Amino acid sequence: MRTQVAIIGAGPAGLTLGQLLQQAGIEAVVIEQRSADYVLSRIRAGVLEQGAVDLLDRAGIGARMHAEGLVHEGIELSFDGEHQRIDFADLVGSNVMVYGQTEVTRDLMDARKASQATTIYEAEEVTVLDFDGARPKVRYRKNGGSIELECDFIAGCDGFHGVCRQSVPPGALTTFERVYPFGWLGILADQPPVAHELIYAHHERGFALCSMRSPSRSRYYVQVAAGEKVEAWSDDAFWDELRRRLNPEIAEQLLTGPSIEKSIAQLRSFVAEPLRFGSLFLAGDAAHIVPPTGAKGLNLAMSDVRMLADALIEHYVEHSASGLDTYSAKALQRIWKAERFSWWMTSLLHTFPETGAFGRRIQRADFDYLCGSRAAQQSLAENYTGLPD
Ligand code: FAD
Ligand code: PHB
Repeated sequence: MRTQVAIIGAGPAGLTLGQLLQQAGIEAVVIEQRSADYVLSRIRAGVLEQGAVDLLDRAGIGARMHAEGLVHEGIELSFDGEHQRIDFADLVGSNVMVYGQTEVTRDLMDARKASQATTIYEAEEVTVLDFDGARPKVRYRKNGGSIELECDFIAGCDGFHGVCRQSVPPGALTTFERVYPFGWLGILADQPPVAHELIYAHHERGFALCSMRSPSRSRYYVQVAAGEKVEAWSDDAFWDELRRRLNPEIAEQLLTGPSIEKSIAQLRSFVAEPLRFGSLFLAGDAAHIVPPTGAKGLNLAMSDVRMLADALIEHYVEHSASGLDTYSAKALQRIWKAERFSWWMTSLLHTFPETGAFGRRIQRADFDYLCGSRAAQQSLAENYTGLPD
């Protein structure tokens, strides 16, 4: 088997890249270790920046997003019950789209199916080979047989635990990491959201986030200590904890019910440099992780693949290597902006066991500064709604 670009991973990064290449007449095969149903069952991000919305439009899959997604012109920050709205429309003339990652993935899968592009699901023992030479290839097992796919390029879109980054010789890679001493316990419930906009709440018991997927489906999170097990949290225990961390007037309006999904995600900041090794390119969570507080993970995956798709198109159509040569440096500039913003949002809003009373006063001072400074609110709004390249 032979293709032009072998894409490892059928998450949002891999599928979007596949769609952009397909549109440009470049052939790509997507190889995914899980089943399509499993990929769709993972509940993750919910907020799209304008840049991601534009990219999904460019990929030709924006129709359902525009019909069903919710345009939000602001978010609410709450600190020990005191509220500050960040008005995106007024501050920076922008907005975000609330549309779940599951739905983005479903739209991309449908488009891929309609164009009869090849996606191999449930590929086992995926291995990337010879990407430092002229004949890169991907080997995997499927239905008991071993298959080898030759290609020009390999796009490593296989997430944080994927095989691509791990296949790079250790000396060629520098990594930067911070693991936070907490995670987010998330719950999905078929109940109307408690408010029209997202609420990010700091409370001495820990952070809480009120989000949504639709006018009848809510997504809520509470900060939990690292190592906590989801089995230890009944739905009732979750709702009680969430109520405690919200402003009492908001908490009173919270509608609760049985969870349809409940999971814990560890919070981490991580960057691998560079993003290119011969003909292997890393994109999305394979290359970097941000804590979800800034809603940047999915958006960053989208901006990586926009740059990578443009570079590959430049290679095949204009026979120029310049996009591929500058991909890593250009993407990393934006990645570090997102890392900074996500780290800052996380630092402001969570409780840190190690920083004590002093740390909490500094967080309060940071919140008060934000409330009193239009420039600070503008900076938050600018970063949240869309980072510049
Ligand atoms: P992924 O979505 O991880 O996709 C990678 C794909 O590669 C997967 O389908 C995986 O099965 C496949 N794969 C892995 N290894 C191999 C292999 N060896 N061979 C073939 N395929 C392989 N962001 C937010 O903004 N808000 C959130 O609330 C939020 N919650 C999250 C919760 C969790 C548990 C995680 C892990 C992430 C969360 N994120 C969140 C981040 C966001 O979902 C990611 O940034 C986004 O999914 C990145 O997309 P991706 O395509 O790069 O990676
Ligand atoms: C979500 O809806 O899952 C969500 C929204 C905003 C975030 C993180 C997650 O910052």
